Amino acid sequence: MSIIENALKKANNQGLIEKNKPDDSLIESDNFTSDDDSIIPKDNQVVINWNVLAAEGFIDHNDTKSQLAEEFRVIKRPLVNNIQGGEINGISRPNLILICSSLPGEGKTFVSINLALSIANELDKSVLLIDADVERPSVSRQLGIKQSPGLIEYLENDKINFSDILLKTDLSNLNVIPAGKRHKYSTELLSSQRMYLFAEEVSRRYKDRVVIFDSPPLLVATQAQILAELVGQVVLVIAAEETPQNVVNESISKLANCDVVMTLLNKTKKELDLYGYNYGYGKYGH
Ligand SMILES: Nc1ncnc2c1ncn2[C@@H]1O[C@H](COP(=O)(O)OP(=O)(O)O)[C@@H](O)[C@H]1O
Ligand SMILES: [Mg+2]
Repeated sequence: MSIIENALKKANNQGLIEKNKPDDSLIESDNFTSDDDSIIPKDNQVVINWNVLAAEGFIDHNDTKSQLAEEFRVIKRPLVNNIQGGEINGISRPNLILICSSLPGEGKTFVSINLALSIANELDKSVLLIDADVERPSVSRQLGIKQSPGLIEYLENDKINFSDILLKTDLSNLNVIPAGKRHKYSTELLSSQRMYLFAEEVSRRYKDRVVIFDSPPLLVATQAQILAELVGQVVLVIAAEETPQNVVNESISKLANCDVVMTLLNKTKKELDLYGYNYGYGKYGH
C-alpha cells in the first residue's frame, strides 16, 4: 500500500473522511448544526459569537498581541503583497486565495477563518470568506451561522444572485458565503462555466477585496484541484509531523498549474524562528 493510501486510511480510521454518502438524487442540506444556539441569518446579517470563537482557539480581536495574531500577520503579508503587485507579477485573479491541504484535519478551516479575521481586523480591506468545502462544510458551523443558501444554490440555479447568498457579519468588512446544501453533482457545479464566471466577476469587481476559499482536501476529492485553477494564490496547509512528505509532493504536483503556491506548516510543536512560521511558509510556484 502506498504512503498516500496509508495516510488516507489513517484519516479514514480517525473518522476524518466521510463514509459513502447516499447517492440518490440531490442530498438536501444536513450540513449545518441544528442546535438552538446557531444564528439564523436574518436579512442576510449574522452576529458572530466572538467569545465562543476565541474560546475555541481562534484569533481574539481583543487580544491583538497574542502569538496566534502575530503568526497570522506573518502569514497574510506575502498574500496581501501578491494582491497589490499581482498583475505586474502576472498572477491572474491574485485576490482569490484557496486554502487547501492534502488530507482532512490539517487545519484548512482553522487557517481560513483566522486569515479572514486577521485581514478584516487589521487591514483596510474587505474580506469575503467562502465555504467551498461543499462535502464537509464547516465555516458556517464554526462561525455559528445557521443553514442558509450558499455557493451550491447559486451554481445550481441562475435565478439566485450573488446578493442572495452573501451574508454580512457584525465585523463590518467581513462577509461570508456558506457552502449551501449537499449536492450529488457538486464537482460538476464547481467546474461549471457559472463557477468560472463567478470567480472572474468576484475578482474583477472587488479588486480590493480578499476572497478566501476554504476547500476540500486535495487528495480526497477532486474539487480542490478544480478550485485551485480558478484562484490566483493557493495556500497548502501541511500538518507538521503528521502528513508524509510523499503525500505533500503528490499535492504539490496537483497544483503545478497554479500561479502561486505557498506552504504553511501547521500544528508545529517546536519553537521555530519568528513563532514557527518562517520555517514552513515558503513559495513553491511562480
Ligand atoms: N494551529 C492550530 N492550533 C490549534 N488548533 C488547530 C490548529 N490547526 C487546526 N486546529 C484544530 O484541528 C482541528 C482540525 O482542523 P480543521 O481546520 O477543521 O481541519 P480541516 O479544515 O483541514 O479539515 C480543528 O479542531 C481545529 O480547530
Ligand atoms: Mg475544514
